[in-house]
Amino acid sequence: QTASIHVFPSHRQNEINRHIYSGFTEHMGRCIEGGIYDPNNPNKDLLTPKSLRKDVISTLKPLDIPIFRYPGGNFTATYHWQDGVGPVDQRPTRLNLAWGGQPETNSFGTNEFMAWCRDHMNAEPYLCLNMGTGTLDEALAWIEYCNATGDSYYAKLRREHTGHDRPHNVKYWGLGNEVWGPWQIAQTKDPKLYAETALQWAKAIKLLDPSVKLILCGSDGMQSVSLPFEPIPFVPPSMIQAASASMSDALHNTFQLERLRTLCPRISRAWDYEVIKATILPATTSDLGVTQGPLIDYVSIHGYTASQTHYPNVFAPLSAERAIETTTALIDLACAANNIPPGQPRPTIAFDEWNVWDPKRAVGSQGAEEKYTLSDALAVAVWLNVFVRQSDKVGMACLAQSVNVISPLMTTETGLIKQTSWFVYELFCRFVRGHKVDVVVNCGCYQGDTSPAWLRDSVKGREMRWLDVSASVDGEGWCVVCVVNAHEGEDIVTAVGGVDGGTEVEVYEVNGKSVDVTNMDGEEKVGICEKRWVVQGEYVFPAHSFTMLRFRVSERK
Ligand code: AHR
Repeated sequence: QTASIHVFPSHRQNEINRHIYSGFTEHMGRCIEGGIYDPNNPNKDLLTPKSLRKDVISTLKPLDIPIFRYPGGNFTATYHWQDGVGPVDQRPTRLNLAWGGQPETNSFGTNEFMAWCRDHMNAEPYLCLNMGTGTLDEALAWIEYCNATGDSYYAKLRREHTGHDRPHNVKYWGLGNEVWGPWQIAQTKDPKLYAETALQWAKAIKLLDPSVKLILCGSDGMQSVSLPFEPIPFVPPSMIQAASASMSDALHNTFQLERLRTLCPRISRAWDYEVIKATILPATTSDLGVTQGPLIDYVSIHGYTASQTHYPNVFAPLSAERAIETTTALIDLACAANNIPPGQPRPTIAFDEWNVWDPKRAVGSQGAEEKYTLSDALAVAVWLNVFVRQSDKVGMACLAQSVNVISPLMTTETGLIKQTSWFVYELFCRFVRGHKVDVVVNCGCYQGDTSPAWLRDSVKGREMRWLDVSASVDGEGWCVVCVVNAHEGEDIVTAVGGVDGGTEVEVYEVNGKSVDVTNMDGEEKVGICEKRWVVQGEYVFPAHSFTMLRFRVSERK
Protein backbone atom coordinates (compact mmCIF):
# COMPACT_ATOMS: atom_id res chain seq x y z
CA GLN A 1 0.00 0.00 0.00
CA THR A 2 1.03 3.61 -0.52
CA ALA A 3 0.70 6.56 1.81
CA SER A 4 1.90 10.09 2.30
CA ILE A 5 3.19 12.16 5.20
CA HIS A 6 3.56 15.89 4.71
CA VAL A 7 5.29 17.76 7.47
CA PHE A 8 5.15 21.56 7.84
CA PRO A 9 8.20 22.49 9.92
CA SER A 10 7.41 26.21 9.74
CA HIS A 11 3.90 25.74 11.15
CA ARG A 12 5.06 25.74 14.74
CA GLN A 13 2.36 25.20 17.27
CA ASN A 14 2.69 25.00 21.03
CA GLU A 15 5.91 24.28 22.84
CA ILE A 16 6.28 20.68 23.96
CA ASN A 17 6.73 20.58 27.72
CA ARG A 18 9.67 18.26 28.47
CA HIS A 19 7.79 17.21 31.58
CA ILE A 20 5.94 14.69 29.38
CA TYR A 21 9.03 12.49 29.78
CA SER A 22 8.79 12.30 33.56
CA GLY A 23 9.19 9.13 35.58
CA PHE A 24 7.74 7.43 38.62
CA THR A 25 9.37 5.43 41.42
CA GLU A 26 7.17 3.65 43.94
CA HIS A 27 7.81 1.42 46.91
CA MET A 28 6.43 -1.49 44.97
CA GLY A 29 8.17 -4.75 44.06
CA ARG A 30 11.78 -4.07 43.01
CA CYS A 31 11.37 -0.49 41.85
CA ILE A 32 13.04 1.17 44.81
CA GLU A 33 14.75 -1.68 46.64
CA GLY A 34 16.60 -3.76 44.06
CA GLY A 35 16.10 -1.05 41.47
CA ILE A 36 17.44 2.35 42.30
CA TYR A 37 18.66 1.36 45.77
CA ASP A 38 20.25 -2.03 46.25
CA PRO A 39 22.11 -2.51 49.54
CA ASN A 40 22.21 -6.28 49.20
CA ASN A 41 23.51 -6.38 45.66
CA PRO A 42 26.36 -8.89 45.39
CA ASN A 43 27.93 -6.86 42.61
CA LYS A 44 28.32 -3.88 44.95
CA ASP A 45 28.60 -1.35 42.15
CA LEU A 46 26.94 1.17 44.40
CA LEU A 47 27.25 4.78 45.37
CA THR A 48 27.94 5.08 49.08
CA PRO A 49 26.70 5.86 51.64
CA LYS A 50 23.19 5.47 50.24
CA SER A 51 23.68 2.25 48.23
CA LEU A 52 22.30 3.70 45.01
CA ARG A 53 22.88 1.61 41.90
CA LYS A 54 25.46 3.30 39.68
CA ASP A 55 24.38 1.45 36.55
CA VAL A 56 20.77 2.65 36.90
CA ILE A 57 21.90 6.23 37.38
CA SER A 58 24.32 6.21 34.46
CA THR A 59 21.73 4.65 32.15
CA LEU A 60 18.77 6.84 33.08
CA LYS A 61 20.69 10.09 33.44
CA PRO A 62 21.38 10.74 29.74
CA LEU A 63 17.63 10.69 29.10
CA ASP A 64 17.43 13.89 31.12
CA ILE A 65 14.17 12.83 32.74
CA PRO A 66 12.75 16.05 34.18
CA ILE A 67 10.62 14.88 37.14
CA PHE A 68 10.27 11.73 39.23
CA ARG A 69 7.10 11.03 41.17
CA TYR A 70 7.53 9.32 44.56
CA PRO A 71 6.74 7.38 46.87
CA GLY A 72 3.60 5.99 45.10
CA GLY A 73 1.09 5.19 43.75
CA ASN A 74 -1.09 3.15 45.97
CA PHE A 75 1.75 2.98 48.48
CA THR A 76 1.17 6.61 49.49
CA ALA A 77 -2.20 5.84 51.06
CA THR A 78 -0.52 4.45 54.18
CA TYR A 79 2.88 6.12 53.98
CA HIS A 80 4.04 8.16 56.93
CA TRP A 81 7.03 10.16 55.77
CA GLN A 82 8.52 10.47 59.26
CA ASP A 83 9.13 6.71 59.21
CA GLY A 84 11.63 7.30 56.43
CA VAL A 85 13.84 10.07 57.81
CA GLY A 86 16.53 10.25 60.51
CA PRO A 87 19.05 7.57 61.48
CA VAL A 88 18.39 4.51 59.32
CA ASP A 89 18.82 2.03 62.17
CA GLN A 90 16.06 3.75 64.10
CA ARG A 91 13.48 3.69 61.34
CA PRO A 92 10.47 1.42 61.88
CA THR A 93 9.69 -1.49 59.60
CA ARG A 94 6.06 -1.28 58.47
CA LEU A 95 3.91 -3.50 56.32
CA ASN A 96 3.36 -2.32 52.75
CA LEU A 97 -0.39 -2.89 52.66
CA ALA A 98 -0.80 -1.63 49.11
CA TRP A 99 1.48 -4.31 47.75
CA GLY A 100 0.92 -7.61 49.48
CA GLY A 101 1.84 -6.64 53.04
CA GLN A 102 5.58 -6.98 52.44
CA PRO A 103 7.83 -5.50 55.14
CA GLU A 104 8.97 -1.99 54.26
CA THR A 105 12.13 -1.14 56.18
CA ASN A 106 11.96 2.57 55.39
CA SER A 107 15.70 2.59 54.89
CA PHE A 108 15.04 4.53 51.70
CA GLY A 109 12.98 7.65 52.42
CA THR A 110 12.74 11.34 51.62
CA ASN A 111 16.42 12.26 51.90
CA GLU A 112 17.61 9.19 50.02
CA PHE A 113 15.11 9.95 47.27
CA MET A 114 16.27 13.56 47.10
CA ALA A 115 19.88 12.43 46.78
CA TRP A 116 18.95 10.09 43.93
CA CYS A 117 16.53 12.38 42.14
CA ARG A 118 18.11 15.81 42.62
CA ASP A 119 21.80 15.17 43.05
CA HIS A 120 22.28 12.19 40.76
CA MET A 121 19.46 12.40 38.20
CA ASN A 122 19.33 16.20 38.10
CA ALA A 123 15.53 15.93 38.14
CA GLU A 124 12.75 17.64 40.07
CA PRO A 125 11.02 15.59 42.78
CA TYR A 126 7.23 15.24 42.78
CA LEU A 127 5.93 13.92 46.11
CA CYS A 128 2.50 12.43 46.50
CA LEU A 129 0.72 13.10 49.80
CA ASN A 130 -1.01 10.47 51.89
CA MET A 131 -4.72 11.23 51.68
CA GLY A 132 -5.63 7.73 52.82
CA THR A 133 -4.56 7.27 56.42
CA GLY A 134 -2.57 10.52 56.51
CA THR A 135 -3.57 13.88 57.95
CA LEU A 136 -3.23 17.47 56.79
CA ASP A 137 -0.93 18.12 59.72
CA GLU A 138 1.39 15.39 58.55
CA ALA A 139 1.30 16.69 54.98
CA LEU A 140 2.11 20.23 56.08
CA ALA A 141 4.95 18.93 58.21
CA TRP A 142 6.41 17.10 55.18
CA ILE A 143 6.26 20.22 53.04
CA GLU A 144 7.83 22.28 55.82
CA TYR A 145 10.52 19.61 56.25
CA CYS A 146 11.35 19.71 52.55
CA ASN A 147 10.98 23.39 51.74
CA ALA A 148 11.15 25.68 54.79
CA THR A 149 14.21 27.88 55.14
CA GLY A 150 13.65 29.55 58.53
CA ASP A 151 14.02 28.26 62.04
CA SER A 152 10.82 26.24 62.23
CA TYR A 153 10.77 22.80 63.80
CA TYR A 154 10.75 20.68 60.64
CA ALA A 155 13.26 22.87 58.80
CA LYS A 156 15.65 22.33 61.71
CA LEU A 157 14.93 18.61 61.71
CA ARG A 158 15.80 18.42 58.00
CA ARG A 159 19.10 20.24 58.61
CA GLU A 160 19.86 17.83 61.42
CA HIS A 161 19.16 14.86 59.14
CA THR A 162 20.89 16.07 55.99
CA GLY A 163 23.77 17.87 57.63
CA HIS A 164 23.38 20.94 55.45
CA ASP A 165 21.24 24.03 55.17
CA ARG A 166 19.90 23.59 51.62
CA PRO A 167 16.14 22.91 51.46
CA HIS A 168 14.88 20.25 49.06
CA ASN A 169 12.60 22.78 47.39
CA VAL A 170 10.00 20.30 46.26
CA LYS A 171 7.76 22.07 43.80
CA TYR A 172 5.26 19.34 42.85
CA TRP A 173 2.90 17.82 45.41
CA GLY A 174 0.09 15.38 44.68
CA LEU A 175 -3.18 15.62 46.58
CA GLY A 176 -3.49 11.86 47.00
CA ASN A 177 -3.37 9.03 44.49
CA GLU A 178 -6.38 7.27 42.94
CA VAL A 179 -8.25 8.02 46.15
CA TRP A 180 -11.48 6.98 44.40
CA GLY A 181 -10.24 3.42 43.74
CA PRO A 182 -11.81 0.56 45.64
CA TRP A 183 -8.30 -0.92 45.97
CA GLN A 184 -7.20 2.16 47.86
CA ILE A 185 -6.72 2.01 51.60
CA ALA A 186 -9.16 4.51 53.10
CA GLN A 187 -10.87 5.02 49.73
CA THR A 188 -12.91 8.20 49.30
CA LYS A 189 -16.00 7.21 47.40
CA ASP A 190 -17.69 10.55 47.17
CA PRO A 191 -16.09 13.09 44.81
CA LYS A 192 -17.63 15.95 46.78
CA LEU A 193 -15.96 14.74 49.92
CA TYR A 194 -12.58 14.44 48.23
CA ALA A 195 -12.94 17.85 46.56
CA GLU A 196 -13.76 19.54 49.85
CA THR A 197 -10.79 17.93 51.59
CA ALA A 198 -8.47 18.63 48.66
CA LEU A 199 -9.53 22.26 48.67
CA GLN A 200 -8.82 22.65 52.37
CA TRP A 201 -5.46 20.93 52.01
CA ALA A 202 -4.59 23.07 48.98
CA LYS A 203 -5.45 26.26 50.83
CA ALA A 204 -3.25 25.37 53.79
CA ILE A 205 -0.39 24.13 51.61
CA LYS A 206 -0.33 27.30 49.53
CA LEU A 207 -0.33 29.38 52.68
CA LEU A 208 2.69 27.42 53.84
CA ASP A 209 4.48 27.61 50.49
CA PRO A 210 2.80 29.57 47.69
CA SER A 211 5.44 28.49 45.21
CA VAL A 212 4.41 24.83 45.10
CA LYS A 213 2.32 23.29 42.34
CA LEU A 214 -0.56 21.06 43.37
CA ILE A 215 -1.87 18.07 41.47
CA LEU A 216 -5.52 17.17 41.95
CA CYS A 217 -6.49 13.51 41.95
CA GLY A 218 -8.65 12.96 38.89
CA SER A 219 -9.51 9.57 37.53
CA ASP A 220 -9.05 8.43 33.94
CA GLY A 221 -10.66 11.23 31.97
CA MET A 222 -12.91 8.79 30.18
CA GLN A 223 -16.08 10.51 31.23
CA SER A 224 -17.70 10.77 27.84
CA VAL A 225 -17.23 7.24 26.62
CA SER A 226 -18.79 3.97 27.63
CA LEU A 227 -16.47 2.44 30.09
CA PRO A 228 -14.38 -0.63 29.53
CA PHE A 229 -15.89 -4.01 30.15
CA GLU A 230 -12.62 -5.79 29.68
CA PRO A 231 -9.73 -5.95 32.12
CA ILE A 232 -8.12 -3.04 30.30
CA PRO A 233 -7.33 -0.20 29.85
CA PHE A 234 -7.63 0.74 33.48
CA VAL A 235 -5.88 -1.51 35.91
CA PRO A 236 -6.74 -2.20 39.52
CA PRO A 237 -3.29 -3.28 40.62
CA SER A 238 -3.33 -4.22 44.25
CA MET A 239 -6.72 -5.84 44.13
CA ILE A 240 -5.73 -7.82 41.10
CA GLN A 241 -2.57 -8.98 42.80
CA ALA A 242 -4.31 -9.93 45.96
CA ALA A 243 -7.05 -11.64 43.99
CA SER A 244 -4.66 -13.48 41.72
CA ALA A 245 -2.79 -14.95 44.60
CA SER A 246 -5.82 -16.77 45.85
CA MET A 247 -8.04 -17.30 42.79
CA SER A 248 -7.92 -19.40 39.70
CA ASP A 249 -7.47 -17.62 36.36
CA ALA A 250 -11.12 -17.84 35.49
CA LEU A 251 -12.21 -16.42 38.78
CA HIS A 252 -9.57 -13.79 38.53
CA ASN A 253 -10.93 -12.65 35.16
CA THR A 254 -14.48 -12.60 36.37
CA PHE A 255 -13.35 -10.65 39.35
CA GLN A 256 -11.68 -8.02 37.16
CA LEU A 257 -14.61 -7.80 34.82
CA GLU A 258 -17.12 -7.47 37.56
CA ARG A 259 -15.08 -4.88 39.33
CA LEU A 260 -14.87 -2.73 36.24
CA ARG A 261 -18.48 -3.26 35.29
CA THR A 262 -19.84 -2.37 38.66
CA LEU A 263 -17.40 0.14 39.99
CA CYS A 264 -15.70 2.07 37.22
CA PRO A 265 -18.71 3.47 35.41
CA ARG A 266 -20.10 4.95 38.56
CA ILE A 267 -16.81 6.17 39.87
CA SER A 268 -15.06 7.70 36.92
CA ARG A 269 -18.07 9.17 35.15
CA ALA A 270 -18.95 11.24 38.13
CA TRP A 271 -15.51 11.79 39.53
CA ASP A 272 -13.54 13.94 37.12
CA TYR A 273 -16.00 16.75 36.51
CA GLU A 274 -17.15 16.88 40.14
CA VAL A 275 -13.68 17.25 41.59
CA ILE A 276 -12.46 19.66 38.94
CA LYS A 277 -15.48 21.91 39.24
CA ALA A 278 -15.33 21.98 43.02
CA THR A 279 -11.65 22.92 43.19
CA ILE A 280 -11.05 25.32 40.31
CA LEU A 281 -11.75 28.66 41.87
CA PRO A 282 -11.01 32.22 40.84
CA ALA A 283 -7.49 33.10 41.90
CA THR A 284 -8.42 35.81 44.35
CA THR A 285 -11.05 34.11 46.42
CA SER A 286 -10.59 36.24 49.51
CA ASP A 287 -12.52 34.09 51.95
CA LEU A 288 -9.85 31.48 51.43
CA GLY A 289 -7.22 34.07 52.22
CA VAL A 290 -5.39 33.12 49.06
CA THR A 291 -4.46 35.79 46.59
CA GLN A 292 -1.39 34.42 44.95
CA GLY A 293 -2.98 32.30 42.25
CA PRO A 294 -5.17 29.28 41.61
CA LEU A 295 -5.07 26.52 44.19
CA ILE A 296 -4.95 23.66 41.73
CA ASP A 297 -2.28 23.57 39.04
CA TYR A 298 -2.73 20.14 37.49
CA VAL A 299 -5.48 17.56 37.15
CA SER A 300 -4.06 14.06 37.30
CA ILE A 301 -5.35 11.20 35.16
CA HIS A 302 -4.00 7.66 34.86
CA GLY A 303 -4.17 5.04 32.16
CA TYR A 304 -2.67 1.67 31.36
CA THR A 305 -3.30 -0.21 28.13
CA ALA A 306 -2.55 -3.74 27.02
CA SER A 307 -3.82 -6.65 25.02
CA GLN A 308 -2.38 -10.03 24.07
CA THR A 309 -3.46 -9.33 20.49
CA HIS A 310 -1.28 -6.96 18.49
CA TYR A 311 -3.81 -4.54 16.98
CA PRO A 312 -5.82 -3.81 20.12
CA ASN A 313 -2.50 -3.51 21.92
CA VAL A 314 -0.93 -1.04 19.54
CA PHE A 315 -4.04 1.09 18.98
CA ALA A 316 -5.22 1.15 22.61
CA PRO A 317 -3.15 4.21 23.56
CA LEU A 318 -5.41 6.22 21.25
CA SER A 319 -7.86 5.97 24.14
CA ALA A 320 -5.48 8.28 26.05
CA GLU A 321 -5.90 10.85 23.30
CA ARG A 322 -9.61 10.87 23.99
CA ALA A 323 -9.02 10.97 27.75
CA ILE A 324 -6.83 14.06 27.36
CA GLU A 325 -9.35 15.81 25.15
CA THR A 326 -12.19 14.93 27.50
CA THR A 327 -10.38 16.09 30.61
CA THR A 328 -9.43 19.35 28.93
CA ALA A 329 -13.06 19.87 28.00
CA LEU A 330 -14.06 19.22 31.61
CA ILE A 331 -11.53 21.79 32.82
CA ASP A 332 -12.92 24.34 30.33
CA LEU A 333 -16.45 23.54 31.38
CA ALA A 334 -15.60 23.90 35.06
CA CYS A 335 -13.86 27.23 34.40
CA ALA A 336 -16.91 28.50 32.57
CA ALA A 337 -19.25 27.24 35.27
CA ASN A 338 -17.14 28.94 37.95
CA ASN A 339 -16.69 32.22 36.04
CA ILE A 340 -12.94 31.91 35.92
CA PRO A 341 -11.67 34.95 34.02
CA PRO A 342 -10.11 34.06 30.67
CA GLY A 343 -6.69 35.40 31.65
CA GLN A 344 -6.37 33.29 34.79
CA PRO A 345 -4.02 30.34 34.46
CA ARG A 346 -5.99 27.13 34.44
CA PRO A 347 -4.90 23.67 35.43
CA THR A 348 -3.27 21.51 32.85
CA ILE A 349 -3.19 17.72 32.75
CA ALA A 350 -0.69 15.59 34.65
CA PHE A 351 -0.97 12.14 33.07
CA ASP A 352 1.09 10.98 35.99
CA GLU A 353 0.79 7.24 35.41
CA TRP A 354 0.81 5.71 31.96
CA ASN A 355 2.25 2.66 30.28
CA VAL A 356 1.49 -0.68 28.74
CA TRP A 357 0.53 -2.99 31.58
CA ASP A 358 -1.36 -6.23 31.59
CA PRO A 359 -1.58 -7.15 35.27
CA LYS A 360 -2.63 -10.66 34.45
CA ARG A 361 0.46 -11.22 32.35
CA ALA A 362 2.66 -9.53 34.96
CA VAL A 363 1.15 -11.47 37.86
CA GLY A 364 3.47 -14.17 38.99
CA SER A 365 6.48 -12.05 38.31
CA GLN A 366 7.86 -10.25 41.29
CA GLY A 367 5.64 -7.21 41.70
CA ALA A 368 4.30 -6.50 38.24
CA GLU A 369 7.48 -7.01 36.27
CA GLU A 370 6.48 -6.96 32.62
CA LYS A 371 8.26 -8.71 29.80
CA TYR A 372 7.71 -6.28 26.97
CA THR A 373 7.36 -7.36 23.36
CA LEU A 374 7.98 -5.37 20.19
CA SER A 375 4.20 -4.85 20.00
CA ASP A 376 4.37 -3.22 23.45
CA ALA A 377 7.24 -0.99 22.33
CA LEU A 378 5.12 0.20 19.40
CA ALA A 379 2.23 0.86 21.78
CA VAL A 380 4.60 2.97 23.93
CA ALA A 381 5.53 4.89 20.75
CA VAL A 382 1.83 5.56 20.10
CA TRP A 383 1.46 6.73 23.73
CA LEU A 384 4.35 9.16 23.23
CA ASN A 385 2.98 10.33 19.87
CA VAL A 386 -0.30 11.04 21.67
CA PHE A 387 1.51 13.18 24.27
CA VAL A 388 3.26 15.14 21.53
CA ARG A 389 0.07 15.62 19.52
CA GLN A 390 -1.75 16.69 22.68
CA SER A 391 1.16 18.63 24.14
CA ASP A 392 -0.85 21.85 24.31
CA LYS A 393 -3.00 20.15 26.96
CA VAL A 394 -0.52 18.00 28.86
CA GLY A 395 1.83 19.66 31.34
CA MET A 396 3.32 16.45 32.70
CA ALA A 397 3.26 12.73 32.03
CA CYS A 398 4.99 10.11 34.18
CA LEU A 399 5.97 6.77 32.75
CA ALA A 400 4.91 4.21 35.33
CA GLN A 401 7.37 3.09 36.41
CA SER A 402 11.04 3.94 35.98
CA VAL A 403 12.83 0.75 37.07
CA ASN A 404 11.81 -2.96 37.21
CA VAL A 405 8.09 -2.52 37.94
CA ILE A 406 6.20 -2.16 34.63
CA SER A 407 9.37 -0.59 33.36
CA PRO A 408 11.49 -0.43 30.22
CA LEU A 409 14.60 -0.83 32.40
CA MET A 410 15.29 -3.98 34.41
CA THR A 411 18.05 -4.68 36.89
CA THR A 412 19.68 -8.05 37.40
CA GLU A 413 22.25 -8.93 40.04
CA THR A 414 25.02 -8.14 37.65
CA GLY A 415 23.66 -5.55 35.26
CA LEU A 416 20.74 -4.11 33.34
CA ILE A 417 18.36 -5.16 30.62
CA LYS A 418 16.88 -2.59 28.29
CA GLN A 419 13.46 -3.84 27.32
CA THR A 420 11.95 -3.29 23.86
CA SER A 421 10.14 -0.12 24.94
CA TRP A 422 13.32 1.42 26.34
CA PHE A 423 14.56 2.34 22.88
CA VAL A 424 11.41 4.20 21.91
CA TYR A 425 11.39 6.12 25.20
CA GLU A 426 15.08 6.92 24.79
CA LEU A 427 14.61 8.31 21.28
CA PHE A 428 11.72 10.57 22.31
CA CYS A 429 13.62 11.84 25.36
CA ARG A 430 16.72 12.56 23.27
CA PHE A 431 15.20 14.13 20.21
CA VAL A 432 11.55 15.18 20.47
CA ARG A 433 11.49 18.66 21.92
CA GLY A 434 10.87 22.26 20.97
CA HIS A 435 7.57 22.85 19.21
CA LYS A 436 4.95 20.56 17.84
CA VAL A 437 4.47 21.15 14.12
CA ASP A 438 1.69 20.37 11.65
CA VAL A 439 1.79 17.09 9.86
CA VAL A 440 -0.78 15.65 7.43
CA VAL A 441 -0.98 11.90 7.06
CA ASN A 442 -2.77 9.91 4.40
CA CYS A 443 -2.81 6.16 4.70
CA GLY A 444 -5.01 3.14 5.14
CA CYS A 445 -6.68 2.32 8.41
CA TYR A 446 -7.12 -0.75 10.49
CA GLN A 447 -10.62 -1.97 9.63
CA GLY A 448 -10.56 -5.20 11.54
CA ASP A 449 -12.28 -6.26 14.67
CA THR A 450 -12.46 -3.45 17.19
CA SER A 451 -13.52 -5.60 20.04
CA PRO A 452 -13.00 -5.66 22.94
CA ALA A 453 -15.64 -3.10 23.73
CA TRP A 454 -13.30 -0.70 25.50
CA LEU A 455 -11.24 -0.29 22.33
CA ARG A 456 -14.31 0.21 20.17
CA ASP A 457 -15.65 2.83 22.56
CA SER A 458 -12.48 4.66 23.32
CA VAL A 459 -11.43 5.03 19.70
CA LYS A 460 -14.95 5.62 18.39
CA GLY A 461 -14.90 8.19 15.61
CA ARG A 462 -11.14 8.00 15.40
CA GLU A 463 -9.21 6.45 12.58
CA MET A 464 -6.80 3.74 13.58
CA ARG A 465 -4.29 4.56 10.90
CA TRP A 466 -1.56 2.16 10.01
CA LEU A 467 0.84 5.06 10.34
CA ASP A 468 0.63 6.86 13.68
CA VAL A 469 2.62 10.08 13.43
CA SER A 470 3.78 13.13 15.37
CA ALA A 471 6.22 15.88 14.37
CA SER A 472 8.27 18.56 16.10
CA VAL A 473 11.01 21.11 15.51
CA ASP A 474 13.58 21.98 18.15
CA GLY A 475 15.35 25.27 18.84
CA GLU A 476 18.31 24.31 16.67
CA GLY A 477 16.15 23.66 13.64
CA TRP A 478 16.01 19.87 13.80
CA CYS A 479 12.71 18.50 12.59
CA VAL A 480 11.76 15.10 13.97
CA VAL A 481 8.99 12.96 12.51
CA CYS A 482 7.98 9.93 14.61
CA VAL A 483 6.22 7.18 12.71
CA VAL A 484 4.76 3.91 13.99
CA ASN A 485 3.88 1.46 11.24
CA ALA A 486 1.40 -0.66 13.19
CA HIS A 487 0.81 -3.09 10.34
CA GLU A 488 1.97 -6.54 11.30
CA GLY A 489 2.65 -7.74 7.79
CA GLU A 490 3.11 -4.86 5.36
CA ASP A 491 5.82 -2.35 4.68
CA ILE A 492 4.26 0.99 3.80
CA VAL A 493 5.66 2.96 0.90
CA THR A 494 5.22 6.60 1.87
CA ALA A 495 5.72 9.84 -0.03
CA VAL A 496 7.37 12.19 2.44
CA GLY A 497 6.67 15.87 1.78
CA GLY A 498 7.85 19.06 3.45
CA VAL A 499 11.50 18.14 3.26
CA ASP A 500 13.63 19.11 0.29
CA GLY A 501 14.90 16.44 -2.09
CA GLY A 502 18.53 15.72 -1.37
CA THR A 503 18.23 16.48 2.36
CA GLU A 504 20.20 14.07 4.45
CA VAL A 505 17.97 12.47 7.04
CA GLU A 506 19.07 10.62 10.16
CA VAL A 507 16.95 7.51 10.54
CA TYR A 508 16.47 5.67 13.85
CA GLU A 509 14.50 2.47 13.57
CA VAL A 510 13.19 0.21 16.34
CA ASN A 511 12.09 -3.13 14.95
CA GLY A 512 12.44 -6.88 15.32
CA LYS A 513 11.61 -10.16 13.62
CA SER A 514 8.00 -10.24 14.81
CA VAL A 515 5.68 -8.34 17.13
CA ASP A 516 6.19 -11.00 19.81
CA VAL A 517 9.94 -10.73 20.29
CA THR A 518 11.25 -9.55 23.64
CA ASN A 519 14.66 -8.66 25.08
CA MET A 520 14.05 -10.57 28.29
CA ASP A 521 15.19 -14.00 27.12
CA GLY A 522 18.91 -13.40 27.20
CA GLU A 523 19.27 -11.57 23.90
CA GLU A 524 18.65 -7.98 22.83
CA LYS A 525 16.37 -8.74 19.90
CA VAL A 526 15.04 -5.19 19.63
CA GLY A 527 17.26 -2.13 19.60
CA ILE A 528 17.91 1.02 17.62
CA CYS A 529 19.16 0.65 14.07
CA GLU A 530 20.66 3.89 12.74
CA LYS A 531 20.71 4.68 9.03
CA ARG A 532 20.88 7.62 6.64
CA TRP A 533 18.36 8.48 3.98
CA VAL A 534 18.93 11.09 1.31
CA VAL A 535 15.46 12.33 0.47
CA GLN A 536 14.32 11.24 -2.91
CA GLY A 537 10.70 10.35 -3.35
CA GLU A 538 9.39 7.76 -0.97
CA TYR A 539 10.41 6.20 2.29
CA VAL A 540 9.41 2.64 3.13
CA PHE A 541 8.29 2.23 6.72
CA PRO A 542 8.84 -1.46 7.50
CA ALA A 543 6.05 -3.59 8.97
CA HIS A 544 5.72 -3.43 12.78
CA SER A 545 8.32 -0.72 13.26
CA PHE A 546 8.94 2.62 14.90
CA THR A 547 10.92 5.06 12.77
CA MET A 548 12.24 8.48 13.67
CA LEU A 549 13.28 10.71 10.78
CA ARG A 550 15.48 13.63 11.89
CA PHE A 551 16.68 16.36 9.58
CA ARG A 552 17.67 20.00 9.59
CA VAL A 553 15.02 22.37 8.39
CA SER A 554 16.13 24.54 5.49
CA GLU A 555 15.91 28.32 5.98
CA ARG A 556 12.85 28.92 3.84
CA LYS A 557 10.74 26.23 5.54
O1 AHR B 1 1.92 2.01 38.96
C1 AHR B 1 1.35 0.98 39.69
C2 AHR B 1 0.06 1.36 40.37
O2 AHR B 1 -0.96 1.58 39.43
C3 AHR B 1 0.07 2.61 41.21
O3 AHR B 1 0.52 2.35 42.50
C4 AHR B 1 -1.37 3.01 41.25
O4 AHR B 1 -1.53 4.37 41.42
C5 AHR B 1 -1.92 2.49 39.92
O5 AHR B 1 -3.13 1.88 40.06
